[in-house]
Amino acid sequence: MISVILGLQFGDEGKGKITDFISRNYDDVVRFNGGSNAGHTVVINGKKFKFHLIPSGALQSNVVILGNGMVIDPDELIEEISLLRQTNKNIKIKISSGAHIVTKMHKILDKKEEEVRASLNIGTTSQGIGPTYEDKYARTGIRLIDLDDMDIVKEKVEIIYRMKKDLLNDTLYGSEEEREKMVNDLLTSGKEILQYMDYTEDIINDDYSRGKNILFEGAQGGMLDIDFGIYPFVTSSNTIAGAVSTGSGFSFRKVDSVIGVFKAYTSKVGSGPFPSEIINDNTLRDLGNEYGTTTGRPRRIGWLDIPLLKHTIKMNDVDSLAITKVDVLGRLDKIKVVTKYLLDGKEISYFPRRIEDFKRLEVKYEEFPGWGEINSSQSLGENGYAALPENLRNYIEFIEKETGKNVDIISMGEERKMTLAKQIFN
Ligand code: IMP
Repeated sequence: MISVILGLQFGDEGKGKITDFISRNYDDVVRFNGGSNAGHTVVINGKKFKFHLIPSGALQSNVVILGNGMVIDPDELIEEISLLRQTNKNIKIKISSGAHIVTKMHKILDKKEEEVRASLNIGTTSQGIGPTYEDKYARTGIRLIDLDDMDIVKEKVEIIYRMKKDLLNDTLYGSEEEREKMVNDLLTSGKEILQYMDYTEDIINDDYSRGKNILFEGAQGGMLDIDFGIYPFVTSSNTIAGAVSTGSGFSFRKVDSVIGVFKAYTSKVGSGPFPSEIINDNTLRDLGNEYGTTTGRPRRIGWLDIPLLKHTIKMNDVDSLAITKVDVLGRLDKIKVVTKYLLDGKEISYFPRRIEDFKRLEVKYEEFPGWGEINSSQSLGENGYAALPENLRNYIEFIEKETGKNVDIISMGEERKMTLAKQIFN
């Protein structure tokens, strides 16, 4: 079984929780995009584990692979590997030789670029993601495989500096001495992580030939995809299922199923259009504790948005849906869902591509009653789904009707056990 799991909104859909729930069925878990801009929290037996680079599925699989599509901060990686070892002692960790390295200079560049963007700033996570991908595509990037060669790393750092010195000159890395120090630090952390380096595209394909089950775990969400999200308010990588192939070296033709995760409402960090946003009411943010895992920033909150969901379902060719945080949403008396987009008073059947269109966009809502508290006996009962509150079932069935996809997994709380799988994942 080869599956892909990814987010269908603006990230933070609770993928970590769902991945952890299904990952016991897979031998290998592979991450194929992004870096420590991602953040996922998994709660096991009341203990919280926060990861940024390591995919959540790693807590339960035998092998974890960080693919070539990723950008990796070595210091963060070292910390997370030691955290992972506390929970999954025997796991094998493999990192692609072609993954790109995020340096301290990239993190500073991230902030500097945001300053230059001024009113078009994205509200990035300041993790150096954009600048590292820029260098990858400028073909000046530092790859993991470079980290044992002082001369290459030094040369690349100097090339990057020469290309971006306007931004760097009034920072620490305007100084040659500081750049040299950074190179030395990189080589030291490089020594620690090079032991995990491998040609992971070969491992994944060999494991497939041996009949292993493989789960590809996406980071961020479909609306942050650099091509199909709301550009330029996106991340610097492709976040949709198609990125599995380029980000890991495994053919899309061999994928059996794509699982799309979405939150029962919507959240977003950073700037840019947010059609279903709830303005001046923080109730849902507080109920759902919606603060960024990576940055701690309060997230912007909105209602579930069906036209947006349909767009990302299409871009990912989703087979099966997983909904999260229904316990949070159900506590409200009245719940709204965006069902239609209108532009200049006319309903549109496409997702807007022009940023200007979002300013003129009107949305139509449908209202649903809440379903109150959900207790664990309801979620774990023999007749799982049938035992859920009727208002919740109506909400889920409405989404199924609108999207034409089944909601197969329902997450009702932070704990692994507060998850209900309607069918295939039991
Ligand atoms: P970057 O990925 O740090 O460059 O940030 C670009 C945009 O994507 C910003 O709006 C971030 O807040 C957002 N973003 C990046 N990663 C995540 C994530 O894992 N969850 C939610 N938003 C994210």
